[in-house]
Amino acid sequence: MALISNLTVKLGKNSYKIVIDNNFPFKLKNNFTKIKGYSKIIVITDKTINNIFDNEIYKLCNELKSEKIILPSGEKTKSFKYLEYLMNKILSKKVDRNALLICIGGGVIGDLVGLAASLTLRGIDFIQIPTTLLSQVDSSVGGKTAINSIYGKNLIGTFYQPKIVIISLYFLRKLPEREIMSGYAEILKYALIKNRVFFSWLKNNGKKILKINSNACAEAIRESCKIKSYVVSKDEKEKNLREILNFGHTFGHALESITGFSSKLNHGESIFLGMYIAIKFSIFLGFCKKSILHEYTNHLDKLNISYKIDDYNISASPNLFLKHLKFDKKVKEKKIRFILISDIGKVKVYKLNEEKILLDFLKKEVF
Ligand SMILES: NC(=O)c1ccc[n+]([C@@H]2O[C@H](COP(=O)([O-])OP(=O)(O)OC[C@H]3O[C@@H](n4cnc5c(N)ncnc54)[C@H](O)[C@@H]3O)[C@@H](O)[C@H]2O)c1
Repeated sequence: MALISNLTVKLGKNSYKIVIDNNFPFKLKNNFTKIKGYSKIIVITDKTINNIFDNEIYKLCNELKSEKIILPSGEKTKSFKYLEYLMNKILSKKVDRNALLICIGGGVIGDLVGLAASLTLRGIDFIQIPTTLLSQVDSSVGGKTAINSIYGKNLIGTFYQPKIVIISLYFLRKLPEREIMSGYAEILKYALIKNRVFFSWLKNNGKKILKINSNACAEAIRESCKIKSYVVSKDEKEKNLREILNFGHTFGHALESITGFSSKLNHGESIFLGMYIAIKFSIFLGFCKKSILHEYTNHLDKLNISYKIDDYNISASPNLFLKHLKFDKKVKEKKIRFILISDIGKVKVYKLNEEKILLDFLKKEVF
């Protein structure tokens, strides 16, 4: 097994390893010795992944003597309906508290399985094996689990850490281009919030990542996971520092919500848009120079990535946008909190005291 890197999310007794690897994780037992002690192991994946990696998943289930549950693919699976379906399926297999769930999937399956693991019998162990670039650099690490509500994105969930995260570049070879770009949004986010050197590196290596060059992907995943692990280790439950990871997400989630979590706009695409709006808002409020926006747009133009609302054919008004923004989890004491940028690698929290400021901005600069 070609091990590329090994990181740790330091959370006291809830600490866990992130293993970055080239191959399909057949030898799970080598990475996670505790696996032999579980009373039952259930592998959970989605239909698309199961179809593509049928053979590999079959072998893994055989090796672990595990059962398998397959869920539909897509954001709509992150719902009460599928949470209930999944938990009933798990319980029907007569699990006890010593059972293990292995999640093989993107952020949708990861968020849903994490939530089911945290609720089943008041908490059973789970492992993340993320299969999209986005889930490898972001959602599989940090323990945020969620489903969506009619009131907004990720509004129902828990903090519940996996026992290990096993990232395999093997999965990326079959990932559609649109999904690779989606993952790139979160990689770029880490550079923008925390590391200008990483941003400069992305300027030279972005194209290679989008083409799934192994070395470039491994480095981007490692650096992203390193930043995420550091932030999560400092602030597991998002009391302060962790909220910087929401850069671009407050605006992005509102747009996802407006489009009804449909395939019109996937999560990563909403983050490209959200970061574009957040940088513009930062300039509007006088927090950062216009040159930061140029650095952002030049980089995305070179990669042929769209970041404007018109490019995605989304019809919304400033008032509708504001309505959706208000459902965000980042609203505290009725004030929306935005993560804004002052320079590449430096962000700040902004509490909106007057809605008029935001509406003026949206009317002038966004719609
Ligand atoms: N928990 C967190 O901290 C966190 C962070 C960021 C995003 N998220 C959540 O993650 C979700 C988005 O995740 P995503 O972009 O991975 O979406 P996803 O899980 O829907 O995967 C995208 C599509 O790719 C398919 N797919 C997955 N792996 C594949 C592979 N290797 N080859 C081919 N096809 C594959 C899936 O079946 C799906 O159709 C959103 O719901 C978002 O809210 C959570």
